[in-house]
Amino acid sequence: MNSEEHYRLAAKLIRKSNYTVAFTGSGISAESGIPTFRGSNGLWSKIDPMKVATPEAFHRDPYFVWEWYRLRINKILHTKPNQAHKILAKWEEKDIIKYVITQNVDNLHREAGSKKIIELHGNILRIRCINCTHKEEITKKLDSTVPRCSVCGSIMRPDVVWFGEALDPIILANAFDIARKSDLMLVIGTSAQVYPAAAIPIEAWRNGAKIIEINPEETSISNYAEISFRDKATYALIKIDKELSKL
Ligand code: OAD
Ligand code: ZN
Repeated sequence: MNSEEHYRLAAKLIRKSNYTVAFTGSGISAESGIPTFRGSNGLWSKIDPMKVATPEAFHRDPYFVWEWYRLRINKILHTKPNQAHKILAKWEEKDIIKYVITQNVDNLHREAGSKKIIELHGNILRIRCINCTHKEEITKKLDSTVPRCSVCGSIMRPDVVWFGEALDPIILANAFDIARKSDLMLVIGTSAQVYPAAAIPIEAWRNGAKIIEINPEETSISNYAEISFRDKATYALIKIDKELSKL
């Protein structure tokens, strides 16, 4: 089967399914200019995550951790969603997909218009107080001070999940419920190496869902996939969207 036929088949699978869910990772935002984590140009090849993405690192040196996050946050504030994010948002509006479950913290699914989003790893444009329950949205560029809580004066941290931290149990349980309900999961731009997130598509598959993967590289999910597109997210989703419009 050539790739054109695979795209047609993917569109047919989507049309046939009753509960399609997208599961995304940093690869879907790569074409918006946000680096992925792993691989030769990934964020974790430039800095040891233990120095910037653990509660211990933050406790030891909040200024250093904030310097790194400030750069990322200020960049993400100016980053636009790409066609892949937009097509998923359009598909939600048309009831073609039910949810986007994402490992990304970049807020681009929301900016693209998706509403039913499960953010497994938090959101980098939100900060929370380390002392009380206060949270704030970041809407404008951060300056070089460590943000302070307007309620209790303590320092604030990015509202993202760090290494060694548990995911929010309610969000996680919800994601697994949705995975079990789904009969088709589109796994887009994730290396599927980080748990428990990576167990979500496998849980869907175990409960009978078919998997369509979009990733330029092979991953552990490829073994479970009905179709693996070795393409970039925008290219593949544009192709599938075109095929869908013909059905
Ligand atoms: P990774 O960096 O591990 O994987 C990114 C994946 O995207 C790779 O498999 C690439 O082949 C693929 N990719 C690259 N460009 C792409 C494109 N244009 N279209 C489609 N796919 C592309 O990122 P994640 O799997 O998201 O955790 O990483 C999972 C978690 O690890 C992140 O959420 C983060 C990180 O540590 C936390 O922050 C808690
Ligand atoms: Zn506080």
